[in-house]
Amino acid sequence: MVTMRCMTPKRMQTVKVSLGPRSYPIHIGVGLLKRIGAWCEETGLGRRCVVISDRRVAPLYGHTVLRSLRERGFEVVPITVPSGESTKCLDVVGHCYRKLAAHRIERSSFVVALGGGVVGDLAGFVAATYLRGLAYVQVPTTLLAQVDSSVGGKVGINLKEAKNLVGAFHQPRLVVCDLATLATLPAREYRSGLAEVIKYGIIRDATLFALLERRMGALVRRDRAWLGPVVARSCAIKAQVVGKDELEGGPRAILNYGHTLGHAIEATSGYGTWLHGEAVAVGMIAAARLSRERVGLPEASVERIHGLVASAGLPTGLPPKAANADRLLRAMALDKKAAGGEVRFVLNRRIGQAIYGQRVPTELVRQEITRLTWLP
Ligand SMILES: NC(=O)c1ccc[n+]([C@@H]2O[C@H](COP(=O)([O-])OP(=O)(O)OC[C@H]3O[C@@H](n4cnc5c(N)ncnc54)[C@H](O)[C@@H]3O)[C@@H](O)[C@H]2O)c1
Ligand SMILES: [Zn+2]
Repeated sequence: MVTMRCMTPKRMQTVKVSLGPRSYPIHIGVGLLKRIGAWCEETGLGRRCVVISDRRVAPLYGHTVLRSLRERGFEVVPITVPSGESTKCLDVVGHCYRKLAAHRIERSSFVVALGGGVVGDLAGFVAATYLRGLAYVQVPTTLLAQVDSSVGGKVGINLKEAKNLVGAFHQPRLVVCDLATLATLPAREYRSGLAEVIKYGIIRDATLFALLERRMGALVRRDRAWLGPVVARSCAIKAQVVGKDELEGGPRAILNYGHTLGHAIEATSGYGTWLHGEAVAVGMIAAARLSRERVGLPEASVERIHGLVASAGLPTGLPPKAANADRLLRAMALDKKAAGGEVRFVLNRRIGQAIYGQRVPTELVRQEITRLTWLP
């Protein structure tokens, strides 16, 4: 469980994801990119690899990663894809497959995903499917990817019909989170990642939540002394949840706190208008208020959640244009996670503990959406 020891600053920390033969380490620290070659060697990966990155990340960090791998004798094929959500598509997957074929990538070769969640999901999907599965390594460079998407083995791409419609469960062999890469991340992207960190506190760890309340100023300034323990703790929570439910049959659903409404906000506003973490932030405010109504979360805790979200510079309400309750309710019912069309929520009785699969009367959801509207 949680100890303060793991939430004090350290140079490097390693969190283990325990999944039997599919277990892997997550290394977290500053300046780790140059050690990737050595870790890939230690992991016993093949001599040839493909580094998939995007056009923003490759010029910033590609060189260091390629050099680290080549210094250890790996033969490296770099592939650069456009940046942004639209890259997670079949066309780009096809482009990667053809590059892998042209370079005679074999079963013993591996894939390195260098970038945010988009590159991680795409490269992981390529690795999961090419030659019926190649080993891969995640090198996440956004806060969201470091604390969330790089851990747990969910990989996939979008179809024009909906997001993340095609995918697989394919665990990486190694995850390397270099906190130094976060320095170049645009402020909005960075804050969006903080929403997932807050979520971990709410669903699993009251100590983390309290630490975030005390240190949010330092975290917003990207103070690495506090980022290290917070990223490590977030990864440990995700690892623990995934370890209990690798294929998302049940308990992993608690990771969706704030996401029921969050996904609906993203879908109805046009993808890209809201960043994922911004939509989740508003979703968490709604989830906290619904928790008060349905399972007795104390009002003081609702206020603490609201205060923490606001202190991260994340939105706590919806502009009138986005607060169309009918549209949001329809989008929630269409979400692929709504079982048989029935919308279920993740709620919490207190900070640090969540319960999933909760039914909430539609009228109550409608009322809370209306309350979320910013008054001009
Ligand atoms: N697999 C999972 O479990 C899981 C979980 C959550 C989210 N996701 C997926 O993750 C994706 C979102 O990931 P994201 O928020 O990391 O977005 P992203 O990968 O699009 O990165 C955001 C932007 O920042 C740029 N960037 C990345 N790292 C940078 C750096 N260090 N410095 C400067 N710029 C940098 C990228 O080029 C991009 O333009 C979505 O597709 C979502 O579906 C997957
Ligand atoms: Zn999320």
